[in-house]
Amino acid sequence: MPSLMQSLNLRVPIILAPMAGGVSTPELVAAVSDAGGLGSLGAAYLTPAQILEAGAAVRRLTGQPFAVNLFAPQPAVDPTPLEVERAIAELAPFHADLALPPPTLTAQGEPDFRAQLEAVLEVCPAVLSFTFGRLEPRDLDALRTRGILAIGTATGLEEARQLEADGVDAIVLQGGTAGGHRGGWLEDELADTLALTRVVASHSRVPLIAAGGLMTAPDVRAALQAGASLAQCGTAFLRAAEAGTSAPYRAALAAARAGDTVLTRAFSGRTARGLQNAVTQGVTQPLPYPHQNALTRPMRAAGARVGRAEVLSLWAGEGVAQGQEGPAAQILAGLWP
Ligand SMILES: Cc1cc2nc3c(=O)[nH]c(=O)nc-3n(C[C@H](O)[C@H](O)[C@H](O)COP(=O)(O)O)c2cc1C
Repeated sequence: MPSLMQSLNLRVPIILAPMAGGVSTPELVAAVSDAGGLGSLGAAYLTPAQILEAGAAVRRLTGQPFAVNLFAPQPAVDPTPLEVERAIAELAPFHADLALPPPTLTAQGEPDFRAQLEAVLEVCPAVLSFTFGRLEPRDLDALRTRGILAIGTATGLEEARQLEADGVDAIVLQGGTAGGHRGGWLEDELADTLALTRVVASHSRVPLIAAGGLMTAPDVRAALQAGASLAQCGTAFLRAAEAGTSAPYRAALAAARAGDTVLTRAFSGRTARGLQNAVTQGVTQPLPYPHQNALTRPMRAAGARVGRAEVLSLWAGEGVAQGQEGPAAQILAGLWP
């Protein structure tokens, strides 16, 4: 059997983590793929038309393989009117401060997974990676038929076992230090990335991809030594020249010190790791995902417009202080000299 590196024609055993919300631009994805790694387009918040457009943009920039990433569908939990009232009350001062009308919970408008998947099948990238859960057998079949590798995300051994039983082609193991949303669906032990990799490697025959806190060349080597076929790095690329990271987000990252990240549900209702700010400190009763995500969207958009980092979701992993600025190819070369 060819290794994952051979199947994907990689020269560097590193995947650019998908970073939904505008960070993983087509330019960033193409730069990493061109430099020998695997770029991933974080497409979870994109409409099907936007997925087609972004996929075509990557193709115009590179002939190399790339991945597209989606959030797997999850059971929706609707909040009670009292919960909505409390969540709105918590956000009201932020809205007032930004001169926005009071927050309201509107119809979700979250992208439809089935339609997104259809668009991905049409783009036909080398890989579809997914997080937050499992895909149905018919979806995995559709990917297989088109020769698209399916890569799921696990935060623990039992999730990895379930993905392996589903027949995925590889599994991202997300350790507890990772930036962004937690990708699991069972109890999350926030495992150490290398320890999780070693445990799953001793139980699994599926190629593994270690993620979480891999910021330097020794980190990447250690992940491969622990049994991973590839390393997936997100925070290391947040300040890349080609990344879509906004100016206030970049400034907050540049100023961050080790220990500045927290796990929070304040922005989306799902636990994610990011830099601490006024919202992570002030919002204590968020709605379940995706309702909180919808509720905080106007505040985040206004914050980005006026450069107010204290109301933005500043996703970052615990390795944030080791992040570097520069072209993505240079950052990749630093991770795999
Ligand atoms: C800004 C940001 C956005 C992210 N968005 C996604 C996403 O859309 N899909 C996904 O599977 N993982 C996402 N992640 C998690 C990464 O896949 C990965 O687990 C994480 O970046 C690895 O840890 P590190 O940030 O310490 O490198 C995101 C991470 C960050 C930092």
